[in-house]
Amino acid sequence: MTDSAFLRACRGEPVPHTPVWFMRQAGRSLPEYRAVRANVPMLASCRTPELVVEITLQPLRRYGVDAAVLFSDIVVPLQAVGVGLDIVAGVGPVIEEPVRRAADLARLRPLTPDDVPDVSASVTALVDELGGTPLIGFAGAPFTLASYLVEGGPSRNHERTKALMYGEPATWHALLDRLADIALGFLQVQVAAGAAAVQLFDSWAGVLSAADYRRYVLPHSAKVLGGLAGGGVVPRIHFGVGTGELLGLLAEAGADVVGVDWRVPLDAAAGRVGPGRALQGNLDPAVLFAPWGAVAAKAREVLAAGKAADGHIFNLGHGVLPDTDPRVLERLVELVHAESAR
Ligand code: CP3
Repeated sequence: MTDSAFLRACRGEPVPHTPVWFMRQAGRSLPEYRAVRANVPMLASCRTPELVVEITLQPLRRYGVDAAVLFSDIVVPLQAVGVGLDIVAGVGPVIEEPVRRAADLARLRPLTPDDVPDVSASVTALVDELGGTPLIGFAGAPFTLASYLVEGGPSRNHERTKALMYGEPATWHALLDRLADIALGFLQVQVAAGAAAVQLFDSWAGVLSAADYRRYVLPHSAKVLGGLAGGGVVPRIHFGVGTGELLGLLAEAGADVVGVDWRVPLDAAAGRVGPGRALQGNLDPAVLFAPWGAVAAKAREVLAAGKAADGHIFNLGHGVLPDTDPRVLERLVELVHAESAR
């Protein structure tokens, strides 16, 4: 497994073909997913190992991707330490009592393996089923988790989050420190159970300037990524949307692989990230709705630009959109494998 194309690309080693997987590959675009999820709420699905195993394997059967990504959600560890929340279909995570002041932080205790025995069981069972295909574990990064907790749900402008960050920096740093411990604990559980790599999703970090990211966020994400370094190390992927100005800082926080959205070509991203780190990305997920000829042309551009990186993992620039035609993803995997074969 350490010899898989995915792990080799993470380490910047030569590969037989460019590996490919898709963020949100397990999910709503698959009819077989909708079938098993019928009548089971999202969070309950994430906490039921038999469902997690089945849903995680579905995209592998269909697409032949080079890695699996655990079916879970970034808010699972928050719920596991006792935060009242739900995932509302078509909306996203909704928090019962948002975190707004220092006294609210007591609700955010560190996560221990005993909080998520189901996650350990799911990962263990998956590693067994996958027989050599790497499993990617993941967590939400402190800033993105903080945004949901402070806003109380999804947000366009993140105004309450920024008000806390600029207005009460001591509370802000205490909040992100607690979230770093929770994210790190969640990743450690997955690695201990056999996850071969991890991805830290800082989906909304792109709303920050580089100076503010460095001051208010980077130390906390570095605590998460740094906590995974050392013995038995697995590759760490660090991703956010709209992070063109932050790519160097995402690397500096301690990533082995930097995930890039579709706004920055990979050859330009390689310059911003610097040598010795692989890149992951970055086909615009909306391109998949264009005629196949256009999809293929765009995918070839991504493959060509990816040659500039010290290791390239093909992915979309953000998650698979719900109405994506699964057959297009299937053809895309074939194209990436065929045209990158060496
Ligand atoms: O990538 C995968 O296939 C693994 C599963 C996965 C889910 N969520 C399952 C899910 C992963 C990696 C995530 C991460 C996640 N969750 C992020 C970071 C990635 C990103 O897209 O930026 C974020 C911000 C969340 C929070 C969240 N959970 C959102 C915004 C939503 C979508 C709300 C909606 O319905 O539009 C969810 C729900 C969610 N998480 C679904 C899935 C499959 C949809 C639930 C359903 O089927 O109704």
